[in-house]
Amino acid sequence: MRFSFTLSAGLLAFASFVSASNVIDLDPDNFEKFVGGDRPALVEFYAPWCGHCKSLAPTFEQLGDAFPTDKVVIAKTDADGVGRDLGNKYGVKGFPTLKWFPAGSLEPVDYSSGRDLESLANFVTTQSGVKSKIKPPPPPVATQLDAANFDDIALDDNKNVLVAFTAPWCGHCKNLKPTYEKVAKAFLSEPDCVVAQMDADEAQNKPVAAKYDVRSFPTIKFFPKGSKEPIAYSTGRSEQQFIDFLNEHCGTHRSIGGLLSETAGKVLTLDTLASNFFTASLPERPDVLAKAREYIGTLTGGDKKTNASAEYYVKAMERVLEKGEGWLAKEQARIAGLLASPSLAPTKLDELKIKANILTSFAATKAEEAYEAAEGLYNDAVDAAKQVPQQAKDGIDQFADAVQDKAKKVKEEL
Ligand SMILES: *[C@@H]1O[C@H](CO)[C@@H](O)[C@H](O)[C@H]1NC(C)=O
Repeated sequence: MRFSFTLSAGLLAFASFVSASNVIDLDPDNFEKFVGGDRPALVEFYAPWCGHCKSLAPTFEQLGDAFPTDKVVIAKTDADGVGRDLGNKYGVKGFPTLKWFPAGSLEPVDYSSGRDLESLANFVTTQSGVKSKIKPPPPPVATQLDAANFDDIALDDNKNVLVAFTAPWCGHCKNLKPTYEKVAKAFLSEPDCVVAQMDADEAQNKPVAAKYDVRSFPTIKFFPKGSKEPIAYSTGRSEQQFIDFLNEHCGTHRSIGGLLSETAGKVLTLDTLASNFFTASLPERPDVLAKAREYIGTLTGGDKKTNASAEYYVKAMERVLEKGEGWLAKEQARIAGLLASPSLAPTKLDELKIKANILTSFAATKAEEAYEAAEGLYNDAVDAAKQVPQQAKDGIDQFADAVQDKAKKVKEEL
């Protein structure tokens, strides 16, 4: 008896699990209880063996959960099984077929939009006036272009602009979207390197797409600063590949996630001077600093960012002269601490990362010295190690001789 009790408890649990679904299972007996009454209904006619029906099932469950059950009926019937008569009655020829039954009506209209949750929910809302509980997707990060703003943004002489020409129905575009959004986010702090997207299938945008010879979706083109002629983006579509392309063509130093990479802010000549500064004797250091200042004066073509970086090299040299080498490690530790704080504004984050990168140019010199010292020690150790076998051999020989001597003496004494 205990067994049957457990079993029925299990069945009960199973039954309540099944009834947790907000998608109603229809058959000819209950059909008119749910359809044609005071609530409108969206009915899916499916077949258990149909692949597209299986793909739709989880979305359809979400749709059932997205609307208040007392206002809208979301239902399905096995039109190749228990609901076959219903399928025949409503002229179902393929699976899945979705039909909308307005409140008080058994005259359905066909559903012919997309099978994604958003399209389905939009349809139900439009037909019924009932809002879904689905949170609207966050606004896109990529700059949205259309016929009205395309020239102002993509052809801006002061900006590099990557444009993805997409169509709402295109599967590859949907696959691209999450990656593209991440890339757009990674470049948010680069106002001169814009990641943009345009629905090229929208009627008003079609002429723009045609002008740039867009023939398939997605087509991705790069509009360089100061040029009206785009270049085709034909590298791969991974996040890293997009980022590498943009870094190369925009002259930026972003990495995945948007942080600046280790090369950001580095000025080659000043790296060498930083290295010279550190290897120089104390009295020679002011001369190196003077050379660095002189070099900054030659940066007449330098942009604001390069100038700021260059000035930080000089500032670091000044601080070391003023406060001693200890300043370097302290400053690095301070910056590392700040960089670890989660609430840093992106511009501040960039500024600190550039400082940290520049300070490693000094530390790299130190590391090089440490490496050379370590290498010296290693070579000494190797030489010493080479001596050991000979010494050991000598020792053993001496010991053997001594033993033989002793043995000889003992023999003689006997
Ligand atoms: C960068 O510095 C150079 C040399 O001091 C200067 O001629 C140039 O105008 C600066 N650039 C900007 C954008 O401030």
